Amino acid sequence: MRRWWKESVFYQIYPRSFQDSNGDGVGDLRGIINRLDYLVYLGVDAIWLCPVYDSPNRDGGYDIRDYYAILQDFGTMQDMMDLIQACTQHGLKIIMDLVANHTSDENVWFIESRLSKNSSKRNWYIWKEGYGEAEPTNMESLFGGSAWEQDTITGEYYLHLFSKHQPDLNLENPEVRDSIYSMMRWWLNRGISGFRMDAITFLKKDQSYARLSCIDGRPYALVSDVCLNQPGLLDFLHEMKELVLKPYNSVSVAEAPGILPEQLTDFVDERNGVFDMIITFDHVDVDTIGLPKGKIRQWDLKSFKHAFTVWQEAAIPEGWIALYLENHDQVRSVSKFGNDGRYRIESAKMLAVWFMLMRGTPFIYQGQEIGMTNCPFTSIREYRDIDGLNYYWGAISRGEPEEEALKYLSIKGRDHARTPMQWSGKKNAGFSEGKPWIQVNPNHIDINVEQSLGDGDSILQFYRALIRLRRKNKALVYGDYKEIMKDSNEVGGYVRTYGNVRFTVICNFTECEVEMRDDPSLIGNKTVLSNVDEHKFGILQPYEAIVLRSHV
Ligand code: GLC
Repeated sequence: MRRWWKESVFYQIYPRSFQDSNGDGVGDLRGIINRLDYLVYLGVDAIWLCPVYDSPNRDGGYDIRDYYAILQDFGTMQDMMDLIQACTQHGLKIIMDLVANHTSDENVWFIESRLSKNSSKRNWYIWKEGYGEAEPTNMESLFGGSAWEQDTITGEYYLHLFSKHQPDLNLENPEVRDSIYSMMRWWLNRGISGFRMDAITFLKKDQSYARLSCIDGRPYALVSDVCLNQPGLLDFLHEMKELVLKPYNSVSVAEAPGILPEQLTDFVDERNGVFDMIITFDHVDVDTIGLPKGKIRQWDLKSFKHAFTVWQEAAIPEGWIALYLENHDQVRSVSKFGNDGRYRIESAKMLAVWFMLMRGTPFIYQGQEIGMTNCPFTSIREYRDIDGLNYYWGAISRGEPEEEALKYLSIKGRDHARTPMQWSGKKNAGFSEGKPWIQVNPNHIDINVEQSLGDGDSILQFYRALIRLRRKNKALVYGDYKEIMKDSNEVGGYVRTYGNVRFTVICNFTECEVEMRDDPSLIGNKTVLSNVDEHKFGILQPYEAIVLRSHV
């Protein structure tokens, strides 16, 4: 079925790092308003705005103190209303993060909940007695250490799947669910078009809270087995759909770790599912799946391609995928999957072709469209992310070498995506007049929007062309998907067919030329897009991507 959000391209904004308008070194809502023309120029249709709610900012705003207020750093509620209005004037839709799994420990709900075992809000969070002197269970937090924190007031422990400053809400309690729904309606009434649903597959916990077996002699067991995609989760989600999403015709983009491809239709089937699209992880986690935190393997192209195909195939015919390579939790794609040195421009363009022309809705993360790279952080003092810092200090306290911990962060750290947007080669990359809250990547001198605007061959211009190509061709939106060249370790490809139109996408993921002279996929096709100056028939140049069109 045709839907606006299927035909759209989304742009993700991490407000703290996008554009500062008042010189305090922190991006803000006014800054975003001032840059909307740029987003229109790029050609996107909608914005996903990462959290701007009032928050102590322990986890980049994913620790909400007040769902009904704006964090002062970012501006005022009036600024937010102005942003929503300005988006409408620019023809842009806007979605916000829904963080329903947890709040900040400074949220008034939690402050009340802590006060006593008889507090009227006690049952809004998950409190348990200790197991003797130990935590109630041996569950590990996703940000390291125990998932339980003992509270000084009553001596009981509360559950936090993320940091200890992010206590988990008890969604078993209908009052909690109602409060979340009211808050969602409140924002939808103010003109947003929907939500990106944070950590939504964690909402349901196995109520037995049993002790678990640990792997590899580790002190804690992973939360995933008892808190991720548990039976009963869909009941909560259907309720949310019926009570809020459906009546408001709200778009929903679900961050959905833990779902198996065969379950996809339970979540995003047009008729029976609960959400419009899901964010999957297999492709970005290709270097870490199955490994304990801190361990990384070299990713390989076959697994990477397979991770896409599995979900593409699972989503046909009714499901829909949020397509992405980058977001605020991932490193820069050109540094991880491309080549951020000699072939930065070619490989960034190739990666754009690869993910944007699949079946689903593309999400571009700020800076991706100019080929921003990972940042050469050198000391732990330069990192800001709680997850990375927890990991580092945990590793140090376990006696692991500092170089190893820093090496892990240099490959995996979430701060790589959070350095300021590079608008120009000038002071602080044109992001702020003041000292930025996190360092600016020194390569802003060469890699920036201003340069990209003036260069007809820039990555930015290529993104614009790709967006136009997708917009003009329904086959690139609604066509089905079939992987080709599955067994290649160098090249990835797929075919999108819709009616009698067929697009073939072929990408060279290496810095070597690859010969394809006899490949049947090249025959009888017209090249509609390529990322190299002179495309040579039958040869893929380093990191070349080609898009071919034919009739069937
Ligand atoms: C999601 C967010 C991430 C955050 C976590 C906890 O995964 O994308 O940034 O740390 O949820 O809210």
